[in-house]
Amino acid sequence: MINRILGSASLLAATIFVFTATAQQEAPTPEQLAASATETRQAVFKLLSFNMGTISAMARGTAEFDAAIAERNANRIAELAPMIPELFAARDTREFTVETEALPIIWDRMDEFNEKATNLVAAANTFAVIARSGDKNATVAAVRAFGGACGNCHDTFREDN
Ligand code: HEC
Repeated sequence: MINRILGSASLLAATIFVFTATAQQEAPTPEQLAASATETRQAVFKLLSFNMGTISAMARGTAEFDAAIAERNANRIAELAPMIPELFAARDTREFTVETEALPIIWDRMDEFNEKATNLVAAANTFAVIARSGDKNATVAAVRAFGGACGNCHDTFREDN
């Protein structure tokens, strides 16, 4: 009796395992792909924000000024920003119900959108050079222009919040 119960339990476990494995191998639906693409691009923006946050804190005086960290974070932003056009070109999520602040006009005005990402790369590189000089006043003074490259895109292509 106990063997029969154990036998059915392991059969059930095996069935669940096979079922789960099959479910996982099924191709994702367009809805799932849209949700995943949205999460990925938001992750890039979170990383941009993480790196920019330290620089802004130095400018506000809430973090100690460190030229090397400012330069490093600017270089990271210059590396991350080219992923913005890549990710938005990879999947147009306009037709899907996703939790997003991305305005649909992004896909109508891709060139303009991409240009704003390119401007961010340029702003990050310019800022990195100034930070590399180690001049605190010059670096802090350059933060606003650098951050402007973020806001310049948000003003046109992101929902107001
Ligand atoms: C080329 C346009 C563009 C540039 C440049 C840009 N952003 Fe954004 N950002 C967006 C769009 C569009 C969204 C909305 C994404 C979504 O919800 O799908 C967004 C979303 C965000 C978010 C919210 C992410 C989340 O949790 O959902 C943060 C934070 C952010 N951006 C910070 C930054 C910072 C910091 C910079 C500059 C270093 C920057 N962005 C540069 C277009 C841009």
